[in-house]
Amino acid sequence: MPFKDLREFIDKLEKEGEAQSIEEEVDWNLEAGAMLRRATEQNFPAPFFQKIKDYPNGYRLFGGSLANYRRISIAMDKSPDTSQQELMEEYLKRKKRTLKPVLVHEAPCKENIDRGDEVDLLKLPVPFLHEGDGGRYLGTFHLTISKDLDSDWVNWGMYRSMLHDKNSVSMWATPGSHLDGMYKRSYEPQGIPMEVAIVLGTEPISALCTAIPIAYGVSEVDVAGGIRGEPVELVKCETIDLEVPATAEIVIEGEMRPHERKDEGPFGDFTGYVTHGRKSVPVVHVKAITYRNDPIFTMSCMGIPVDDDTAIHSVTKGAEYLEALRASGLPVTGVCVLAEASELITVVAVKPPFSNVAEVIADIVWGTRAGRHLPYIIVVNDDVDPFDRSQVWHALATKCHPDRGIVKRKRGVLMPLLPSATSYERRHGLGARTYFDCTWPLDCDPKELPKRVSFKEIYPEEIQRKALAKWKKYGY
Ligand SMILES: Cc1cc2nc3c(=O)[nH]c(=O)nc-3n(C[C@H](O)[C@H](O)[C@H](O)COP(=O)(O)O)c2cc1C
Repeated sequence: MPFKDLREFIDKLEKEGEAQSIEEEVDWNLEAGAMLRRATEQNFPAPFFQKIKDYPNGYRLFGGSLANYRRISIAMDKSPDTSQQELMEEYLKRKKRTLKPVLVHEAPCKENIDRGDEVDLLKLPVPFLHEGDGGRYLGTFHLTISKDLDSDWVNWGMYRSMLHDKNSVSMWATPGSHLDGMYKRSYEPQGIPMEVAIVLGTEPISALCTAIPIAYGVSEVDVAGGIRGEPVELVKCETIDLEVPATAEIVIEGEMRPHERKDEGPFGDFTGYVTHGRKSVPVVHVKAITYRNDPIFTMSCMGIPVDDDTAIHSVTKGAEYLEALRASGLPVTGVCVLAEASELITVVAVKPPFSNVAEVIADIVWGTRAGRHLPYIIVVNDDVDPFDRSQVWHALATKCHPDRGIVKRKRGVLMPLLPSATSYERRHGLGARTYFDCTWPLDCDPKELPKRVSFKEIYPEEIQRKALAKWKKYGY
């Protein structure tokens, strides 16, 4: 059964040792961020802060809800020990079926409604997450909902949002993201404000799906329904023409006005670095806030991986690459997005059907929506398990020719937060990318290829059997 709301999910996480209620008061100013960062780096349970300095009893903070595969597995109603690979397959299977949301008329997120002059974002325990951030970050684990101007397509995305004052936040969306496109290519040129809802504290699959690299025109809420196995319940907003998850903890209704920008950043992000300073980005003006009694404010505290971003994307982006490669008919045996490499390296295993298959693989992955920002691809033979890091490192070190095995594309699309990018590249969205061909070339006599020296490959079966039997006798 899918979780009805965040509260049910937290209960389950606590039972599985994946979340911990913390009664001692925590300061929203850096302390909550430091606690969450430490928990994320050490894989401690997700902290559920019950008492926030300067805030009334009942206002709570919860962070790191999907920061590892165990929590994603629980969110998907799978065994907590489900592997990254199994999660990818499950995601692909469930994604095939979409379920439209259902509209309800009464909703927990309407227990409290503040409009107009009553709006005060500072009533929420918005955390100041990292030393040096540009401000308090309201949106670091949330849904941003907006509607296409010319169709009924509704986009959900997770775009970081920095608090400015009691009724405005600035929002950074990657160039080319759906929100960025809707605002800059449709609403803004026509001088029309874009209505936006920022939603915190949904059931976990809505949060997961808001961060998936889905195609233009597909509504994430339909995918979330399919992945949950039950439609998401939505309710109409009070002041804008959008619908939001009914059981959400907090809903912020507002609009992005055309031709308005405010500063945003710096911010410590999922690459493990602060990569840029202040930027001018669009602003959301808030018209209403609706929230549950004793609302739970959700957050992530990104930095050195693995965190919510890299855990979620190593499953969902990996699944999208796998799907695209399978659709091409290539005999790909596995795809692994390395979460610990900030999702910037993807390993693909293949049984090469023709020479230079690595190039075709790289072009397919880079051609996907998620893959356009990927700087590194490692292609290995099918005898390498792409999820086994030591096998991957060994293949890279031994089978990738230091010259012809490394293929660079000098003018690709930049992942804007790539720490190694130059300021010129960042300004123009240009970035180099590289693939490492760690497959044996097909244009040589297989007999000339170096032989692998492993127990299974170098000894006759008879000798292996004897050795195994002896080791068994010695207790191994
Ligand atoms: C915790 C977290 C934080 C994220 N922050 C941002 C962000 O600030 N800006 C952004 O463009 N994408 C961010 N993303 C990634 C987007 O949510 C993701 O790429 C999504 O697919 C974008 O939606 P779109 O393809 O509909 O534009 C974040 C993802 C996660 C999980």
